[in-house]
Amino acid sequence: MNIKQALEYGINLLKENDINEPIIKTRIILANILNKSKEYLLIHENEELSNNLTKLFKNNVKKICNGVPVQYITNKQEFMGLEFYVDENVLIPQPDTEILVEEVINICRDCNDQYKYRDNKYIEILDLCTGSGAIGISIAKNIENSKITLSDISKKALQIEKKNYIKNNIINKIKIVESDLFDNINDKFDIIVSNPPYIKTDVIETLDKDVRYEPIIALDGGKDGLKMYRKIINEAYKYLKPDGHLCLEIGFDQKNDVIKLIKDTKRYINIYSKKDLAGNDRIIVCNN
Ligand SMILES: C[S@@+](CC[C@H](N)C(=O)[O-])C[C@H]1O[C@@H](n2cnc3c(N)ncnc32)[C@H](O)[C@@H]1O
Repeated sequence: MNIKQALEYGINLLKENDINEPIIKTRIILANILNKSKEYLLIHENEELSNNLTKLFKNNVKKICNGVPVQYITNKQEFMGLEFYVDENVLIPQPDTEILVEEVINICRDCNDQYKYRDNKYIEILDLCTGSGAIGISIAKNIENSKITLSDISKKALQIEKKNYIKNNIINKIKIVESDLFDNINDKFDIIVSNPPYIKTDVIETLDKDVRYEPIIALDGGKDGLKMYRKIINEAYKYLKPDGHLCLEIGFDQKNDVIKLIKDTKRYINIYSKKDLAGNDRIIVCNN
């Protein structure tokens, strides 16, 4: 089988199985197997694949037909212009989450003059429920004077975070803590940022096939989707330095509920939300 035939084979099988974006997905997995660019495939369509590569390619096409996300096959996802290793032990970082990261970066930049005059000139940030580490690592890459703690309950996620901060070359700025939310957190931070699991338990089984391949622990926000926000909001102020920020990603319909949780504690001020490009509220920020 040559490259052209392999592409036809993959595209047809994905179409038959109603998989969206069959052309791009087939190109990505073939380019990944060959360790070449997608453009290479177009220029070298007569190149023959070895028997082993043909078998591997067909196997990967089958996985995509079964709903396995492409990123779990290539073990790659781009986020904030950086490349992250991902596998089935972590959520695939989503483009929407870049709104949260950009807001934290803006807060850091706005605050930087003020922080420069402190004895400790670093901005200390906790990325709670960090998964692949995409949020904290992207902030570390953008804010020179940041020190980031990445924390997650999942041992397997912690191994992936480590891979990612080494891959992105920021070893000196990162600390990793295995923790059920704040249980093993002992420091105070200028910013706590989190994209916790926030999908209602009974909605999970209605999601697209590929989302259901992501770890349930990364998705399940309990019966009302707010379980993790309740716990985070009720505790975060104890781990924030004075005038610290709590920055949360939320589901598109959770703004009012999460703001109510924040107000009910009477511990936070300056609450605001921001929308994504589709006009949905996707982040909430407040100060202690
Ligand atoms: C929605 S994923 C977010 C991953 C990553 N922050 C991102 O935005 O791509 C939620 C993460 O929370 C972690 N998690 C779930 N329950 C937790 C808990 N009780 N304490 C700490 N982390 C938890 C999961 O392991 C998962 O990595």
